[in-house]
Amino acid sequence: MADDVQTPKLREALRGIPAYKAGKNPDASAFKLSSNENPYPPLPGVLEAVQKSAENFNRYPDMGCSALSSEIAERFGVPVEHVATGTGSVGVAQQLLQATSGPGDEVIYAWRSFEAYPIITQISGATSVRVPLTPEEHHDLDAMAAAVTDRTRLIFVCNPNNPTGVAISEDALVRFLDRVPSDVLVVIDEAYREFVRDDSIPDGVDLYRDRPNVAVLRTFSKAYGLAGLRVGFAIAHEPVAAALRQTAVPFGVNSLAQVAAIESLRAEKLLLERCEALVQERTRVTEALREQGWTVPESQANFIWLRLGERTAEFAAKAEAAGIVVRPFAGEGARITVGEVEANDILLRVTAEFQE
Ligand SMILES: Cc1ncc(COP(=O)(O)O)c(C=O)c1O
Repeated sequence: MADDVQTPKLREALRGIPAYKAGKNPDASAFKLSSNENPYPPLPGVLEAVQKSAENFNRYPDMGCSALSSEIAERFGVPVEHVATGTGSVGVAQQLLQATSGPGDEVIYAWRSFEAYPIITQISGATSVRVPLTPEEHHDLDAMAAAVTDRTRLIFVCNPNNPTGVAISEDALVRFLDRVPSDVLVVIDEAYREFVRDDSIPDGVDLYRDRPNVAVLRTFSKAYGLAGLRVGFAIAHEPVAAALRQTAVPFGVNSLAQVAAIESLRAEKLLLERCEALVQERTRVTEALREQGWTVPESQANFIWLRLGERTAEFAAKAEAAGIVVRPFAGEGARITVGEVEANDILLRVTAEFQE
């Protein structure tokens, strides 16, 4: 190669972006409790619909996801123009950043929270403003409101929060929304909404209705068990919803994902029964951990958070040796998905031994 050949010029903003750490895939004999997936296999009716649809995948999908958007609009009682779909809710979150934020702008979120927020913020060129969780693992909403400047374009509120599972009450969230200027977009990320059982936790869709600066993110990856198909959506007023259509990758949501999501909404009752079984397991595991002497924040999601500090890596290694793969955040803690009963029992054996 000649000496003067240079590599293509890439955007400065990409320098030093943290890599997204996907939950580790265990070997065949271990349980994967590292990605907050649904442990149940696809529902037979959903699988059949997808298999049938696969016969036509030589064709492009419906670019506007019109049938799926109509189902979502009906299910949530919102205008269909307020529904915008994408490749997982993380895809929609990235579109929201593309639509609102660039170099010189600021994006606020709690920390620790969903690890994609810093990555997609940096890709947009905007600056992350991280507001630490309180010692009780709650969003510090006063500090987040105080962090708003005239450069703030978007605020992520993860409710319940990943990885702690802690959720924000309606009173607190409404007070916060009332303090945020109306030209700043607040994104309420409700990836785990279907696992919430505490009545004081608001449904973001109720909050969005009379607030044009609020967008709600939902996903088919968790409660609906479609993580591998990549489909999520936002509910937002115009012009935010229209901006999401502008920033969508053309034909991004594939035809199998569209069919599976529609069938899943139609089979929602069965899927929500599965969620209820997982919630019961969450309660069982939380209570057992507390009996063992652990401090466990009240999770409203399908995972549990153990703040293990410097012992996190050691705990993750012990868990893996026992047959469960958890998600360690080095020096902070481990997030453990509520999985199959057998997997949860292994967790409780590991935690009991770790306490001793
Ligand atoms: C809080 C939160 N938001 C969004 C997502 C993205 O989910 P998906 O892109 O599969 O819809 C996740 C996934 O882990 C999450 O935890």
